[in-house]
Amino acid sequence: MPYPNKGTMAHVICIVSQKGGTGKTTSSVNIAGALALFEKRTLLIDCDPLGNATTGLGIEKDGLPGTLFHALTGRFTIQDVTLTTQLEFLNIVPARFELLESEQKLMFLPNRNTRLRSVIGAVRSQYDYVIIDSPPSLNFLAISAIASADWLLVPMQCQLFTLEGLGQLLAIAREIKTRHNPDLRIGGILFTMCEKHRNGAAVCTGKVLDNFTDNIFQSTIPWDRRLRESSDYGKPLVLHDITAKGADAYLKLTLELIRFFENRESAIQPPKPEAPPVNSSPKNVSENTGALSA
Ligand SMILES: Nc1ncnc2c1ncn2[C@@H]1O[C@H](COP(=O)(O)OP(=O)(O)OP(=O)(O)O)[C@@H](O)[C@H]1O
Ligand SMILES: [Mg+2]
Repeated sequence: MPYPNKGTMAHVICIVSQKGGTGKTTSSVNIAGALALFEKRTLLIDCDPLGNATTGLGIEKDGLPGTLFHALTGRFTIQDVTLTTQLEFLNIVPARFELLESEQKLMFLPNRNTRLRSVIGAVRSQYDYVIIDSPPSLNFLAISAIASADWLLVPMQCQLFTLEGLGQLLAIAREIKTRHNPDLRIGGILFTMCEKHRNGAAVCTGKVLDNFTDNIFQSTIPWDRRLRESSDYGKPLVLHDITAKGADAYLKLTLELIRFFENRESAIQPPKPEAPPVNSSPKNVSENTGALSA
């Protein structure tokens, strides 16, 4: 069901990495679930033809009349293909295999890379957060997802060699920022599947964080087999077992994100005319330009 217009625009966060298996879908589903638990109106957009985020929310893909593909290609509106979930504050735009054909279908459209952005624009004022799960590549769909986002969040498995590919991702993001999306920023690197006693992880974390001093959160996600199992139940772990360490980590991360965005919002509110602030300088909120401006 569509939510009423809020009069403000959702923060659009794209969870992206061209590497496979870094925790993009697990993060998308659990962050979206946690945002909904905190009663933030949230839209999860599954932008991967594999549709793992769709399955992760327990949605049976076969019988769906419409998916993201149909919204992208104009057969249905985004409202038509949006589904409710077991959480009152969480909706999802599902995906399945036909999404693979979208690049070909949109090939001759001059604005194809910003098509998804326009599709999301139609409902952006109805949500507090839009989370986009992207595929493990830097193809048309990933570019569309990056071009739609205000913030990129890059999950990385906590181990050596994790940095491989990061430069390429950042270069593409920089190009998309220049061409299509000047507001794009890097929210940060999210370390996933962290095992406490791996030396590689510590070295790598230090190395990466030297380059990303502007991360908008501190949290990391531990390795937790419960996160692996939770997709079998068709529920984010934050819904299935809130006491599991993986769920706890995603809840803490989500709280950090909410605080970051709410502080930003209050910092950019114009002062009320009847009570001008004594000190009108904004609160101490980092104007994160991330690695994109480097
Ligand atoms: N913190 C974690 N602890 C243990 N297992 C995890 C954790 N996070 C994710 N996994 C598991 O690792 C696998 C890959 O995770 P996920 O599907 O989220 O990655 P992905 O980046 O979306 O993958 P793809 O690139 O294929 O889309 C899944 O089986 C998932 O259940
Ligand atoms: Mg995935």
